[in-house]
Amino acid sequence: MDQHAMDRYIKSMIKEAGHRIRNSFLSDISVDTKAHANDLVTNVDKEVEKFFIRHIREDFPGHRVFGEEGFGDQIDELSGTVWMLDPIDGTMNFVHQRRNFAISLGIYQDGVGKMGYIYDVVNDDLYHAIAGGGAYYNDERLQPLLETDISESIIGMNAMWATPNRHVEHEATIRLVHEARGMRSYGSAALELAYLASGRIDAYISMRLSPWDIAGGLVMAKEVGAVASNFSGQPANLLKSDTFVAANPSIHRKLLQEYIKPKHT
Ligand code: IPD
Ligand code: CA
Ligand code: CA
Repeated sequence: MDQHAMDRYIKSMIKEAGHRIRNSFLSDISVDTKAHANDLVTNVDKEVEKFFIRHIREDFPGHRVFGEEGFGDQIDELSGTVWMLDPIDGTMNFVHQRRNFAISLGIYQDGVGKMGYIYDVVNDDLYHAIAGGGAYYNDERLQPLLETDISESIIGMNAMWATPNRHVEHEATIRLVHEARGMRSYGSAALELAYLASGRIDAYISMRLSPWDIAGGLVMAKEVGAVASNFSGQPANLLKSDTFVAANPSIHRKLLQEYIKPKHT
């Protein structure tokens, strides 16, 4: 399948999955917890992951799937084609708000991002990017990010990091809260990356994200010139959970040097 046919195939699969998720609102959703009391998973997360995997296995038998709910492959290296899937990113929002969550999908070839998709299911907004072919919000091409400064930036970050915590020096975060134009927290890493690529926020910071949270968004972010790394400035981790900062290229370094102070515990 060439890239255009694959793009059409993926979009139709994502729209069908979105339809299933919207339909799930009509029946009971069963909610479980995973690593801790606020780490939620539902039957819908699992069913949607299985839906994608069924199609991928049938139509791309040589490809592997790195999915959050564990129905895909065990991935410890990225050779060949790997689909990185978060069936519902923002499950807490899905459960509590019935909005502000997304399907996130990134397709990687030998560790290089080739295609990225983030689908805001309730608003029926599809963000996508093809490496070298630009990033899109529905049919609208997203423009390269313009130069900015912290004082004119909106930063996506959980308010927790401006309170005493074991990950970062909260005084530095408080300085960021004072010096940035505004702070936002949407509760879906994928949507925050889509908003970064769309220029609606200028940076997104997280203490811990997994490959499926960022895989699709990274392809998109790169297409508009955004820069992503972990807190040490190394490339974003596509094999395991890590710290993460993605930003407009004019403020990425400054965020790392002046405002994000890891405690290295
Ligand atoms: C979570 C969301 C959230 C982020 C968490 C993720 P999930 O994904 O992206 O915004 O802060 O770290 O785990 O569990 O809803 O797929
Ligand atoms: Ca997620
Ligand atoms: Ca998820």
